[in-house]
Amino acid sequence: MTQIPLPELALVALIGVSSSGKTTFAARHFGAYEVLSSDHFRALVSGSEHTLDANEAAFSSLYHVAARRLERGLLTVVDATSVRAEDRRRLVDLARAHDVLPVAIVLDLPRSVLDARHEARLDRPFSGAVIGRQQTDLRRSLRGLSREGFRHVWTLRSVDDVETTQVTRVP
Ligand code: CTP
Repeated sequence: MTQIPLPELALVALIGVSSSGKTTFAARHFGAYEVLSSDHFRALVSGSEHTLDANEAAFSSLYHVAARRLERGLLTVVDATSVRAEDRRRLVDLARAHDVLPVAIVLDLPRSVLDARHEARLDRPFSGAVIGRQQTDLRRSLRGLSREGFRHVWTLRSVDDVETTQVTRVP
């Protein structure tokens, strides 16, 4: 069983491809206002979670809110795929700018699980090939996360591991 002793003041990047369970994990372990979801921000700025050309507006809004929270010393969780280094760099920079620890919780599930979940979803109208591309990006990234600046990296590799993980807050 994975134990995640989370620093009380941290910027937590939940990293994982679509359907890896980031939103489900966030809802289980964090408060509603602690979690900033890219889907939610896309919907706020455009009326739908799926408006792809709303990414710029959605992420600039998300980073803005994250910065305001970190200024107040509030733990903040970013629920976005973050499988590309340039996306993660924004998060590490944001944490550093506010003197807060950037930490990563990675959901790296087997492709068979991801494919089955993706097929069962009606709310993700893109092809399953997207999942494959995201997974390739993610797996290329894994070894370098500490070098990118994440001070702690926890990687969950199975459904069972995700289900049984315990998150505690440490001062
Ligand atoms: N799911 C599941 N079992 C879990 C976790 C999630 O069957 N233990 C299902 C959810 O019901 C949902 C899908 O998998 O239909 C994706 O879960 P979600 O938490 O939304 O994954 P995300 O990684 O947040 O997906 P996305 O990036 O597409 O928002």
